[in-house]
Amino acid sequence: MPQGGSIVLSVRNVKKKIRNREIIKGISFDVHAGEVFGFLGPNGAGKTTTIRMLVDLIRPTAGTIHVCGLDVHRQHNEALRHVGCIVENPELYGFLTGWENLEHFARMLPGVTAARIREVTALVGLEQRIHDKVRTYSLGMRQRLGIAQALLGNPRLLILDEPTNGLDPQGIKEMRLFIRKLAATGLSVFVSSHLLGEIQQMCDRVAIIHRGRIIAVGDVAELLAQYGNRVVWNVASPDRALELIASCEGVTVLSAEQCEEEGSAGNGEEEGAGEGRMAGAGNGAGHNDENRDVRTGENREAHTDGNGAVHTGGNRAGHKRGTILTQMSEELVPYVNARLVQVGVEVFSIERKSPTLEDLFLSLTDGESIG
Ligand SMILES: Nc1ncnc2c1ncn2[C@@H]1O[C@H](COP(=O)(O)OP(=O)(O)OP(=O)(O)O)[C@@H](O)[C@H]1O
Ligand SMILES: [Mg+2]
Repeated sequence: MPQGGSIVLSVRNVKKKIRNREIIKGISFDVHAGEVFGFLGPNGAGKTTTIRMLVDLIRPTAGTIHVCGLDVHRQHNEALRHVGCIVENPELYGFLTGWENLEHFARMLPGVTAARIREVTALVGLEQRIHDKVRTYSLGMRQRLGIAQALLGNPRLLILDEPTNGLDPQGIKEMRLFIRKLAATGLSVFVSSHLLGEIQQMCDRVAIIHRGRIIAVGDVAELLAQYGNRVVWNVASPDRALELIASCEGVTVLSAEQCEEEGSAGNGEEEGAGEGRMAGAGNGAGHNDENRDVRTGENREAHTDGNGAVHTGGNRAGHKRGTILTQMSEELVPYVNARLVQVGVEVFSIERKSPTLEDLFLSLTDGESIG
């Protein structure tokens, strides 16, 4: 990871007022060489407005923006020579072929040869269709042609405004891999999105923007690690369990949910109290196995909805089951588990849940949703 590498984009105390309304309220961040930098925020947060300022389409009311040490406003041409950008949607001519579009944009840049056009075409994987009219392209192909166009001038920084918008899951995955591939060549990619999972999987670092303010910025894995580990307890007698867990020092209860357990015939495989154990490695961003069932190895949906309970034997119709979401250090788990056993609370599973950017966002915005 190129952390601490040279700074390709530097944004300092940037503000933007439009019609007397402050839309961007003093934001600062740096993008380093060769990293994928996520700019994450809900609709209306100010992502596109910021991007417009990054490429001098609109002027900040205050603050400075430098690309490779050059002021994007005062040294417009020199600075923007290092930048390729797509704001919202790529601007392409449908009545021209992909190749003709690239030729058209190449004319505006010094020194772009036919060889370079072939190179960027190959880079975005459009060789087969490059001589077809753009109006026959799928959305994903248009996005890729837009990126090819942005790469023509061999920039050091590529800025993409929600490049996965409108793409299907396969297209999103391809775009993610493609962006990582570009970064591996040393290019810095600044990518905006309102999709937390996307950013978590694709980016080295992230700035989270909310109502024109940056509410968190840093290494994705570090931000999440700071946020601490969550442990989900799946127990019987949830009231008693909750009381006990909440009384343990160093444990924060984040939420608790109950459900009536349906009666089921015993199969003799009931797991006794005290046998719960930590599941999965839970080691950071983007892992899909964080909700893996400790006993069956099957993936389950969110535990916190109380419906993902492990069914055990015994005729216990009407008994309550509950899931309790806590934040605590791993060292405390055996202790809390032993105390639950002591008071006769059955523990069905204990699972570590890696925090997600969504958790982080919710906690930073006091529970406001990203969507
Ligand atoms: N030219 C303008 N005039 C007035 N208000 C504007 C203008 N441009 C943007 N805004 C307002 O600024 C805020 C931020 O808009 P912006 O387009 O930057 O958000 P965004 O984060 O890109 O959202 P989205 O995810 O929907 O694309 C919004 O409340 C928007 O209505
Ligand atoms: Mg936008």
